[in-house]
Amino acid sequence: MKFFIDTANLEQIKEANDLGVLDGVTTNPSLMAKEGVKGEENILNHYKAICELVDGDVSAEVLSTDFEGMIKEGEELAKLHEQIVVKVPCTKDGIKAIKYFSDKKIRTNCTLVFSTGQALLAAKAGATYVSPFVGRLDDISTDGIELIRQIVDMYGYYEFDTQVLAASIRHTMHIVQCVEAGADVATCPLSAIVGLLNHPLTDKGLAQFVADAKKMN
Ligand code: G3P
Repeated sequence: MKFFIDTANLEQIKEANDLGVLDGVTTNPSLMAKEGVKGEENILNHYKAICELVDGDVSAEVLSTDFEGMIKEGEELAKLHEQIVVKVPCTKDGIKAIKYFSDKKIRTNCTLVFSTGQALLAAKAGATYVSPFVGRLDDISTDGIELIRQIVDMYGYYEFDTQVLAASIRHTMHIVQCVEAGADVATCPLSAIVGLLNHPLTDKGLAQFVADAKKMN
Protein backbone atom coordinates (compact mmCIF):
# COMPACT_ATOMS: atom_id res chain seq x y z
CA MET A 1 0.00 0.00 0.00
CA LYS A 2 1.46 3.37 -1.01
CA PHE A 3 0.78 6.37 1.26
CA PHE A 4 0.22 9.73 -0.39
CA ILE A 5 -0.56 12.81 1.65
CA ASP A 6 -3.59 14.81 0.53
CA THR A 7 -2.54 18.40 1.07
CA ALA A 8 -0.78 21.37 -0.53
CA ASN A 9 0.62 22.47 2.85
CA LEU A 10 4.42 22.33 2.59
CA GLU A 11 4.98 21.94 6.33
CA GLN A 12 2.63 18.97 6.56
CA ILE A 13 4.22 17.39 3.48
CA LYS A 14 7.68 17.78 5.05
CA GLU A 15 6.48 16.32 8.38
CA ALA A 16 4.95 13.32 6.62
CA ASN A 17 8.04 12.83 4.46
CA ASP A 18 10.33 13.02 7.50
CA LEU A 19 8.32 10.11 8.98
CA GLY A 20 9.86 8.03 6.20
CA VAL A 21 6.66 6.40 4.93
CA LEU A 22 5.47 8.88 2.29
CA ASP A 23 5.21 7.77 -1.35
CA GLY A 24 3.63 10.83 -2.94
CA VAL A 25 1.31 13.84 -2.71
CA THR A 26 -2.12 14.69 -4.08
CA THR A 27 -3.51 18.19 -4.35
CA ASN A 28 -6.69 19.68 -5.78
CA PRO A 29 -7.88 23.26 -6.39
CA SER A 30 -9.53 23.45 -2.96
CA LEU A 31 -6.35 22.32 -1.17
CA MET A 32 -4.24 24.76 -3.19
CA ALA A 33 -6.64 27.66 -2.53
CA LYS A 34 -6.53 26.78 1.18
CA GLU A 35 -2.78 27.54 1.12
CA GLY A 36 -3.42 30.97 -0.35
CA VAL A 37 -1.61 30.20 -3.59
CA LYS A 38 -2.64 32.80 -6.20
CA GLY A 39 -1.63 33.39 -9.83
CA GLU A 40 -0.27 30.99 -12.46
CA GLU A 41 3.42 31.54 -11.64
CA ASN A 42 2.90 30.98 -7.91
CA ILE A 43 0.79 27.89 -8.57
CA LEU A 44 3.49 26.34 -10.76
CA ASN A 45 6.21 27.26 -8.27
CA HIS A 46 4.20 25.69 -5.46
CA TYR A 47 3.97 22.40 -7.37
CA LYS A 48 7.72 22.52 -7.97
CA ALA A 49 8.30 23.14 -4.25
CA ILE A 50 6.20 20.07 -3.42
CA CYS A 51 8.19 17.97 -5.91
CA GLU A 52 11.43 19.04 -4.21
CA LEU A 53 10.09 17.90 -0.81
CA VAL A 54 9.18 14.32 -1.71
CA ASP A 55 10.59 11.50 -3.83
CA GLY A 56 7.32 10.40 -5.39
CA ASP A 57 4.38 11.29 -7.63
CA VAL A 58 2.71 14.67 -7.13
CA SER A 59 -0.82 15.11 -8.51
CA ALA A 60 -1.49 18.60 -9.88
CA GLU A 61 -5.05 19.23 -11.04
CA VAL A 62 -6.02 21.17 -14.14
CA LEU A 63 -8.44 24.05 -13.54
CA SER A 64 -10.04 24.00 -17.01
CA THR A 65 -13.17 21.94 -17.61
CA ASP A 66 -12.95 21.87 -21.42
CA PHE A 67 -10.73 19.51 -23.42
CA GLU A 68 -8.61 22.21 -25.08
CA GLY A 69 -8.00 23.97 -21.77
CA MET A 70 -7.17 20.70 -20.00
CA ILE A 71 -4.64 19.79 -22.68
CA LYS A 72 -2.93 23.20 -22.57
CA GLU A 73 -2.73 23.19 -18.76
CA GLY A 74 -1.79 19.53 -18.48
CA GLU A 75 1.13 19.76 -20.89
CA GLU A 76 2.44 22.76 -18.96
CA LEU A 77 2.10 20.94 -15.64
CA ALA A 78 3.80 17.83 -16.99
CA LYS A 79 6.82 19.91 -18.09
CA LEU A 80 7.28 21.24 -14.54
CA HIS A 81 8.84 18.11 -13.06
CA GLU A 82 9.09 14.38 -13.83
CA GLN A 83 7.16 13.66 -10.61
CA ILE A 84 4.09 15.60 -11.74
CA VAL A 85 0.96 13.56 -12.48
CA VAL A 86 -1.77 15.56 -14.25
CA LYS A 87 -5.05 15.33 -12.33
CA VAL A 88 -8.20 15.48 -14.45
CA PRO A 89 -11.88 15.27 -13.42
CA CYS A 90 -13.91 12.26 -14.60
CA THR A 91 -16.01 14.03 -17.22
CA LYS A 92 -16.44 13.52 -20.99
CA ASP A 93 -13.77 16.14 -21.69
CA GLY A 94 -11.65 14.71 -18.90
CA ILE A 95 -11.68 11.17 -20.27
CA LYS A 96 -10.85 12.51 -23.74
CA ALA A 97 -7.96 14.47 -22.21
CA ILE A 98 -6.70 11.42 -20.29
CA LYS A 99 -6.61 9.45 -23.55
CA TYR A 100 -4.69 12.30 -25.18
CA PHE A 101 -2.17 12.41 -22.32
CA SER A 102 -1.89 8.61 -22.20
CA ASP A 103 -0.99 8.53 -25.91
CA LYS A 104 1.74 11.13 -25.20
CA LYS A 105 3.06 9.19 -22.17
CA ILE A 106 1.94 11.91 -19.77
CA ARG A 107 0.83 10.31 -16.50
CA THR A 108 -2.63 11.12 -15.19
CA ASN A 109 -4.86 10.82 -12.13
CA CYS A 110 -8.59 10.65 -12.92
CA THR A 111 -10.35 12.34 -10.00
CA LEU A 112 -13.89 12.89 -8.67
CA VAL A 113 -14.71 9.23 -9.35
CA PHE A 114 -17.80 7.83 -7.61
CA SER A 115 -18.77 4.72 -9.60
CA THR A 116 -17.32 1.60 -11.22
CA GLY A 117 -18.56 2.90 -14.56
CA GLN A 118 -16.46 6.03 -14.22
CA ALA A 119 -13.47 3.95 -13.08
CA LEU A 120 -13.90 1.68 -16.12
CA LEU A 121 -13.74 4.62 -18.53
CA ALA A 122 -10.71 6.07 -16.70
CA ALA A 123 -8.83 2.77 -17.09
CA LYS A 124 -9.83 2.37 -20.74
CA ALA A 125 -8.55 5.91 -21.43
CA GLY A 126 -5.22 4.91 -19.90
CA ALA A 127 -5.27 6.78 -16.59
CA THR A 128 -2.24 6.07 -14.39
CA TYR A 129 -4.36 6.46 -11.25
CA VAL A 130 -8.07 6.60 -10.52
CA SER A 131 -9.26 8.51 -7.43
CA PRO A 132 -12.55 7.20 -6.01
CA PHE A 133 -13.73 9.56 -3.23
CA VAL A 134 -14.46 7.29 -0.26
CA GLY A 135 -15.42 9.93 2.32
CA ARG A 136 -17.81 11.82 0.10
CA LEU A 137 -19.72 8.61 -0.66
CA ASP A 138 -19.86 7.82 3.07
CA ASP A 139 -21.19 11.35 3.56
CA ILE A 140 -24.32 10.35 1.58
CA SER A 141 -24.76 6.96 3.28
CA THR A 142 -23.11 5.06 0.43
CA ASP A 143 -20.32 2.54 1.14
CA GLY A 144 -17.18 4.19 -0.26
CA ILE A 145 -14.95 1.25 0.65
CA GLU A 146 -17.25 -1.10 -1.27
CA LEU A 147 -16.60 1.00 -4.37
CA ILE A 148 -12.83 0.59 -3.82
CA ARG A 149 -13.34 -3.17 -3.55
CA GLN A 150 -15.42 -3.29 -6.75
CA ILE A 151 -12.89 -1.25 -8.74
CA VAL A 152 -9.96 -3.36 -7.51
CA ASP A 153 -11.84 -6.51 -8.55
CA MET A 154 -12.78 -5.03 -11.95
CA TYR A 155 -9.22 -3.86 -12.70
CA GLY A 156 -7.84 -7.24 -11.66
CA TYR A 157 -10.33 -9.19 -13.79
CA TYR A 158 -9.64 -7.12 -16.93
CA GLU A 159 -5.91 -6.70 -16.08
CA PHE A 160 -5.98 -2.90 -16.26
CA ASP A 161 -2.72 -1.20 -15.20
CA THR A 162 -4.52 1.81 -13.69
CA GLN A 163 -3.76 2.09 -9.96
CA VAL A 164 -6.61 2.54 -7.46
CA LEU A 165 -5.77 5.67 -5.43
CA ALA A 166 -8.34 5.84 -2.61
CA ALA A 167 -9.12 9.50 -1.94
CA SER A 168 -11.30 11.53 0.40
CA ILE A 169 -9.86 9.45 3.24
CA ARG A 170 -11.03 10.90 6.55
CA HIS A 171 -9.55 8.70 9.28
CA THR A 172 -7.37 5.69 10.16
CA MET A 173 -10.19 3.15 9.74
CA HIS A 174 -10.58 4.23 6.12
CA ILE A 175 -6.88 3.43 5.61
CA VAL A 176 -7.23 -0.01 7.20
CA GLN A 177 -10.35 -0.72 5.11
CA CYS A 178 -8.54 0.38 1.93
CA VAL A 179 -5.80 -2.14 2.72
CA GLU A 180 -8.43 -4.86 3.11
CA ALA A 181 -10.09 -3.80 -0.15
CA GLY A 182 -6.77 -3.95 -2.02
CA ALA A 183 -6.29 -0.29 -2.95
CA ASP A 184 -2.86 0.46 -4.46
CA VAL A 185 -2.65 3.86 -2.80
CA ALA A 186 -4.44 5.79 -0.07
CA THR A 187 -4.10 9.57 -0.08
CA CYS A 188 -4.70 10.80 3.43
CA PRO A 189 -4.60 13.73 5.78
CA LEU A 190 -1.45 13.64 7.94
CA SER A 191 -3.62 13.03 11.00
CA ALA A 192 -4.92 9.77 9.54
CA ILE A 193 -1.42 8.52 8.71
CA VAL A 194 -0.01 9.40 12.14
CA GLY A 195 -3.18 8.11 13.76
CA LEU A 196 -2.21 4.59 12.67
CA LEU A 197 0.46 4.72 15.36
CA ASN A 198 -2.03 5.20 18.19
CA HIS A 199 -2.57 2.20 20.50
CA PRO A 200 -3.08 2.37 24.28
CA LEU A 201 -1.26 -0.95 24.81
CA THR A 202 1.85 0.47 23.11
CA ASP A 203 1.73 3.50 25.40
CA LYS A 204 1.12 1.32 28.47
CA GLY A 205 3.85 -1.13 27.53
CA LEU A 206 6.42 1.60 26.86
CA ALA A 207 5.61 3.31 30.17
CA GLN A 208 6.27 0.02 31.95
CA PHE A 209 9.55 -0.51 30.05
CA VAL A 210 10.67 3.03 30.98
CA ALA A 211 9.75 2.45 34.62
CA ASP A 212 11.54 -0.90 34.72
CA ALA A 213 14.59 0.50 32.91
CA LYS A 214 15.03 2.98 35.76
CA LYS A 215 15.45 0.01 38.11
CA MET A 216 18.64 -0.81 36.22
CA ASN A 217 20.27 2.51 37.01
O1 G3P B 1 -8.24 14.09 -2.92
C1 G3P B 1 -9.59 14.40 -2.73
C2 G3P B 1 -9.80 14.91 -1.34
O2 G3P B 1 -8.99 16.04 -1.11
C3 G3P B 1 -11.23 15.23 -1.05
O3 G3P B 1 -11.37 15.11 0.32
O4 G3P B 1 -12.50 15.38 2.52
O5 G3P B 1 -12.87 17.08 0.67
O6 G3P B 1 -13.84 14.76 0.51
P1 G3P B 1 -12.70 15.62 1.05
